[in-house]
Amino acid sequence: METNKIYCMDCLEGMKQIPDGSVDLIVTSPPYNFGGFSRDGKQSSYDCYDDNMTDEEYQEWTECYFKELYRVLKPTGMFYFNIKYRFQDYRCKIPFWIVEKSPFKLLNMIIWKFASSPDVAKIKWYPRHEYVFVFIKSNDYYFNEDYAKYGDVWEIPQVMANSKERTNHPAQYPLKLIRRIIESSSKSEQLVLDPFMGSGTTAVASKQLNRKFIGFELSKEYCDIANKRLAQKTIFEL
Ligand SMILES: C[S@@+](CC[C@H](N)C(=O)[O-])C[C@H]1O[C@@H](n2cnc3c(N)ncnc32)[C@H](O)[C@@H]1O
Repeated sequence: METNKIYCMDCLEGMKQIPDGSVDLIVTSPPYNFGGFSRDGKQSSYDCYDDNMTDEEYQEWTECYFKELYRVLKPTGMFYFNIKYRFQDYRCKIPFWIVEKSPFKLLNMIIWKFASSPDVAKIKWYPRHEYVFVFIKSNDYYFNEDYAKYGDVWEIPQVMANSKERTNHPAQYPLKLIRRIIESSSKSEQLVLDPFMGSGTTAVASKQLNRKFIGFELSKEYCDIANKRLAQKTIFEL
């Protein structure tokens, strides 16, 4: 499969074309199954995906793509999985079951902490963090020891309405978060996979850091946003 490309297709279909053990690093943030987004105080949704499976369907689907990710990752590779917890009926629905169902070994649970969450009702403590699960396949994984000092709580601002990197995607994650992951856990020229590419943040960070990338995204609109970002002359200034 050609690298440095975002394929506008279902990732489960697309990953079938990636050979076993050929990817050095996986970084992704999947749809959270929240049935849409609340952004800048407004309800928003994905372009062509309703993000509204039953819990059982969502777990089954997650297990399915985890299996594919496990297959394509090299034994020395790492997999960073950014997800948000969700309270419903006073229960935390995700993400902890993922760890139990995953074929990977869990190395870290990073807390991504941020200073603002402007769209939340003032009825309880504001949510100010998400998780980044760090998975490995074997103990022979690559990790640059200079990065261990950052610890497992990372304070990195979310992409705000006035951020330079901001696009029209409702769930864009910040370049700074992804750059730290790519720099610490892969080498120059290695291959980074993001099965849920959205606005292309993983691809942009990979290009900035001289890594190859491959990605999938269902929505043509988001693929266009991502390709436009990748073609920007100012990409290295973001
Ligand atoms: C949380 S967003 C990713 C945002 C991305 N990290 C960014 O910075 O823009 C998840 C994305 O997955 C896409 N998606 C949903 N189901 C998919 C599938 N089966 N295959 C590929 N992409 C899918 C959605 O359209 C959405 O853009």
